[in-house]
Amino acid sequence: MSFVVTIDGPAGAGKSTTAREVASRLGFLYVDTGALYRALALKVRNGGVPPDDPSAVERCARETDVGLSGSPEHAHVWLDGAEVSDAIRTPEVSEMASRLAAQTPVRRRLVEIQRALATRGPLVAEGRDLGTVVFPDAEVKIYLDADLDTRAARRARELKQRGIAATLEQVREELTRRDGRDRGRADSPLQVPPGARVVNTSAMTIDQQVEEILRVVRDHPACPGRGAGDEASGAAGTPGPGPQRG
Ligand code: DC
Repeated sequence: MSFVVTIDGPAGAGKSTTAREVASRLGFLYVDTGALYRALALKVRNGGVPPDDPSAVERCARETDVGLSGSPEHAHVWLDGAEVSDAIRTPEVSEMASRLAAQTPVRRRLVEIQRALATRGPLVAEGRDLGTVVFPDAEVKIYLDADLDTRAARRARELKQRGIAATLEQVREELTRRDGRDRGRADSPLQVPPGARVVNTSAMTIDQQVEEILRVVRDHPACPGRGAGDEASGAAGTPGPGPQRG
């Protein structure tokens, strides 16, 4: 198992942007685990699979090939051989992903894929259960948080940039519903992992978040390339774009 940095937290806390930048600066792989849940959700939605029928969803999950490029600069997501990086970012897919994520067979299948990625090199993995369930022995664990208004404003801005119309109130409701489900489920709920450094990003810029996490990672005695500059510390090399299946 390689050197692992986990970043957990609720939606809109800044995990993706921060994790991608940290991975890029360190030359580590970037693993967006939410993208795997989203890709499966897209298939369930488009394929008319009943989302509340656990055996139908389990069958679908078993027959589905999802993968991540692992590259922070080209963070592509693949579903059965097709690139779905943009298609998975709609509010409908967010909602479906959170519903499916409460089902144990879905989690089992997707955790397998996440752990397989960790054999490829040092990585930064972000999601809800990385420091608690997927990589409980991770060298560095971070929990990113922010207040609901800040998170809703960030998410609304991101949706607008993607050309998706949603009011601040709609986004607030979506985050509240999704967080409640992600925190309240029986299997792998969102929680602060034991030993995690909690960073509240409400009043922080992305640069500040990135610098704080980089400091924590570089302080770890086993951090690859420790003491070297950013460019020289790329122990994983620069992961190339393209599908890297789990
Ligand atoms: O991080 P995200 O918003 O892309 O995640 C979408 C949903 O997937 C989220 O609401 C809960 C689920 N998820 C999860 O249960 N466990 C993870 N490690 C990552 C995401």
